[in-house]
Amino acid sequence: MWRASVLTIFPEMFPGPLGSSLAGKALASGAWSLDVVDIRDFATDKHRTVDDTPAGGGPGMVMKADVLGRAIDAAAADKRARFLLSPRGAPLTQKRVEQLAAGAGAVLVCGRFEGIDERVIAGRGLEEVSIGDYVLSGGEIAAMVLIDACVRLLPGVMGATASRDEESFTEGLLEYPQYTRPQVWEGQPIPEVLLSGDHGKIAAWRRAEAERLTRERRPDLWARHSGTRAKPVTKA
Ligand SMILES: C[S@@+](CC[C@H](N)C(=O)[O-])C[C@H]1O[C@@H](n2cnc3c(N)ncnc32)[C@H](O)[C@@H]1O
Repeated sequence: MWRASVLTIFPEMFPGPLGSSLAGKALASGAWSLDVVDIRDFATDKHRTVDDTPAGGGPGMVMKADVLGRAIDAAAADKRARFLLSPRGAPLTQKRVEQLAAGAGAVLVCGRFEGIDERVIAGRGLEEVSIGDYVLSGGEIAAMVLIDACVRLLPGVMGATASRDEESFTEGLLEYPQYTRPQVWEGQPIPEVLLSGDHGKIAAWRRAEAERLTRERRPDLWARHSGTRAKPVTKA
């Protein structure tokens, strides 16, 4: 079973949104499991202290290496990938999510304050991963994002695997536009080709739309997909 272990000073935040919908049903049915570890349980003083002032001075607090080291050792004795959620990390991609979903699970360390003592990262082999170029107040929501992206790919969690194969990023392209009834809404009809019943034409239209959207919105993805250099998009 795919297993997520989350190390946090806010264990009450979990499962949170992971307890609802697709991920929640999969959790209840045993497709994946979640252990939530309270980092404070590994503090040794009566105040359960997990942070201290930064060496060299400066604002804020830093999570302590000794406390975190003990928490990680207790939570992750196996070979699962270990992550530190961090704005400095490599951006999380669908490719990395697919690799992770195919493995045994993940151990996720959620930072707070100014972050964690640098020595823990190498000392416990943590892979730093970011969910975007902005700063959150803690790693918990980022951990939920990573878990949700993995869990929906686990066998049997999503209904139709075909929908997964055509999703954004799967082929390095954004997804084509989707429509459903009513056939005309506020004067806007569903594109005729989608009602034609001609599967070849529909596939060609979808492909062309996926390419157009990727070219217009994500020159970086388009460059990778088409093997060309990214150029800024200029509107006519
Ligand atoms: C206030 S942030 C610390 C930011 C840090 N001082 C910096 O400038 O890189 C606290 C914690 O939130 C989490 N976090 C913030 N932004 C994130 C992001 N974009 N992706 C993943 N985790 C993030 C990390 O665990 C981080 O240790």
